[in-house]
Amino acid sequence: MTSIAGFIFDLDGVITETSEYHYQSWQQLADEEGLPFTREDNEQLRGVSRRVSLMRLLKGREFPEAKLQDMMFRKNQYYKALLHHVTAKDCLPGVEDFLHDASASGLKLGIGSASRNARAVLEKLGLIDMFAVIGDGYSVVNSKPAPDLFVWVAGGLGLHVDQVVVFEDAEAGIDAAKTAGCLSVGIGTANVNHADIVVGGLHDLTVEQVLTQLSR
Ligand code: BG6
Ligand code: MG
Repeated sequence: MTSIAGFIFDLDGVITETSEYHYQSWQQLADEEGLPFTREDNEQLRGVSRRVSLMRLLKGREFPEAKLQDMMFRKNQYYKALLHHVTAKDCLPGVEDFLHDASASGLKLGIGSASRNARAVLEKLGLIDMFAVIGDGYSVVNSKPAPDLFVWVAGGLGLHVDQVVVFEDAEAGIDAAKTAGCLSVGIGTANVNHADIVVGGLHDLTVEQVLTQLSR
């Protein structure tokens, strides 16, 4: 039997609600460019890289590379401005207790986020020292739903992928975890029903429940 030895957490939408700030930043860009974009459209952007997000927002409209770069830069400026307000109070409910319990249980903890702002967000939340490995938007070439990021973080933790549970709020993230061969916990209201466990948030779950329900 392989025992669970590590947890890898997505950041936006799992640890903190910055997914809302990503949405507001894309909405501002879309409005400025006169492009149709709704909160429902934004669900397709959850968990995927900045560039893939822009491509999905553009829905097949073509632009020169310089214009694409300009749009990604502006979106990131709007997002970073929203991050100014983030403090330790912005951890989602139950997150700090869950992380401390996991650490006290001897589990290795990592981050697997598509975001290039992940380290800055973790600093603001006061959580950066909780994680032995931080995989972010710079760590691998192929972003979620490719399995690469979770394989990269598991390897950094010194673990095999089947010793790891991934916590994710995005369909692309659960797909990535499953393709990597990790166990998975789906968080929130997006399409994460294909995860091994599905809960509303980390406040709905204990470390003990994860270990008991997913041991194989
Ligand atoms: C993911 C978010 O964590 O990071 C996406 O769910 C976001 O919405 C992606 O687009 C990339 O983030 P960033 O900060 O590099 O633009
Ligand atoms: Mg997420």
